[in-house]
Amino acid sequence: MTDPRLESLLQSCPDLRLKTDAGDLEHYGRDWTRRWAPAPLAIALPGSVEEVQAVVRWANAHKVAVVPSGGRTGLSGGAVAANGELVLSLERMNKPLGFDAVDRTLVVQAGMPLEAVHNTAKEHGLIYPVDFAARGSCSIGGNIATNAGGIRVIRYGNTREWIAGLKVVAGNGELLELNKGLIKNSSGYDFRQLMIGSEGTLGIVVEATLKLTDPPPSTNVMVLALPSFEVLMQVFSAFRERLQLEAFEFFTDLAVKHVTAHGAQYPFEQIHPYYVVTEYASADEAGEAAALAAFEYCMEQGWVLDGVISTSEAQAQQLWRLREGITESVARYKPYKNDVSVRISAMPAFLAETQALISGAYPHFEVVWFGHIGDGNLHINVLKPDDTSDAEFLGQCEHVTKLLAQVLQRFDGSISAEHGIGLVKKAYLASTRSDAEVALMRGVKRVFDPNGLMNPGKVFDL
Ligand code: FAD
Ligand code: MLT
Ligand code: ZN
Repeated sequence: MTDPRLESLLQSCPDLRLKTDAGDLEHYGRDWTRRWAPAPLAIALPGSVEEVQAVVRWANAHKVAVVPSGGRTGLSGGAVAANGELVLSLERMNKPLGFDAVDRTLVVQAGMPLEAVHNTAKEHGLIYPVDFAARGSCSIGGNIATNAGGIRVIRYGNTREWIAGLKVVAGNGELLELNKGLIKNSSGYDFRQLMIGSEGTLGIVVEATLKLTDPPPSTNVMVLALPSFEVLMQVFSAFRERLQLEAFEFFTDLAVKHVTAHGAQYPFEQIHPYYVVTEYASADEAGEAAALAAFEYCMEQGWVLDGVISTSEAQAQQLWRLREGITESVARYKPYKNDVSVRISAMPAFLAETQALISGAYPHFEVVWFGHIGDGNLHINVLKPDDTSDAEFLGQCEHVTKLLAQVLQRFDGSISAEHGIGLVKKAYLASTRSDAEVALMRGVKRVFDPNGLMNPGKVFDL
């Protein structure tokens, strides 16, 4: 370690674990996007809040940029360190700190993996309901920093709904204790909510007080085959009217092609163009009867062609794999990902316009559609053909994203529903947030991070 800045870091924080091997710089310097070449200065792995504060104070003294890092499962380049930044990994701060049965809260360190949070909540007979396929690798700090959504938003909302308190080391090294687990608090600005979704640009989340809730009554999983895009929202309405939905997700035949090639089992005899996977409360006979009624009604209307209901927990997991395995199954094609949202009521018209745009724009590329349709959130993944260069592929996709951003603007939608802006969508932030809002974002950043060292260049440029 020859860099004098790192020598001084260790002098100010002697027990800090630092990594500088080439393999570590590569591993910790990128996220799931794989679009930027990692080039961090070093990786700091603090073991305590005090060490995080010491690192941030050192960064200010030496004007070194800091990239907060969780599980690096992010899909927007938020955790990428490609410009000599110090990566501050929370991976050693991964423990539960306390459960309160009366408050029904769980205090955790920010580096705790989401799945470990689920398991700890379960030990107390409760659930932490935010959930998605990266659960084994993503961290609760990263979930908070991106306001992660996932497959149960329709029932429980986004991460934002489940945070009762946060400890954050702000950009100047000061420790902020935000909301302290209170349910009611009308005492001025709620900085906890400001931190949620701020993608590491205002400070570092070091601890979180999570709200827990009762597990749902037993649920069943149903996969439906649909003839067309147009009927998707009608099927959604029919099911939502009759059932307590825990999830309502959609995917296409192309997604099925990739996910089954990756080991998922296909439940139907024929291939169909569109699919829905839904999970619903089925504690009693009435729940099951309502599910069958919804299914039969949709069949009668010609909106559903086939369906299968899980009869065991193992089968439910198999059916979920058709949806949850998509991201991994297409990863080798370096997919260009759009993650957009509109109000549910605007979805039918938005889907029609977007489908026309996308099918015309990418005649030679495979486009895999899926997403949290019950939340108005579409994932459009364009797969890179092996014989097309990265630059050419990116150029074409960026061109189409500009057009998509115009459509979103007209529908009052969002260019990022749940993955965050990071680097990937920085150029499009202003398409769905006003100039006044972006100017305020810059101003807020200056207050929390006066030297502009917290994840600089992410979300917007200063
Ligand atoms: P990272 O990738 O490490 O970081 C993400 C951002 O948060 C970066 O800007 C980083 O700087 C910042 N950050 C990380 N930790 C902290 C901290 N302690 N303090 C301050 N800032 C911090 N996302 C969804 O919303 N819904 C999904 O359904 C979903 N499914 C996915 C499925 C797969 C298979 C994969 C690979 C990803 C999926 N994602 C999904 C995206 C990703 O998992 C989420 O964005 C997740 O919240 C990122 O957590 P992470 O710990 O990996 O964060
Ligand atoms: C999902 O819904 O599966 C995730 O957001 C991941 C992705 O979009 O690839
Ligand atoms: Zn998603």
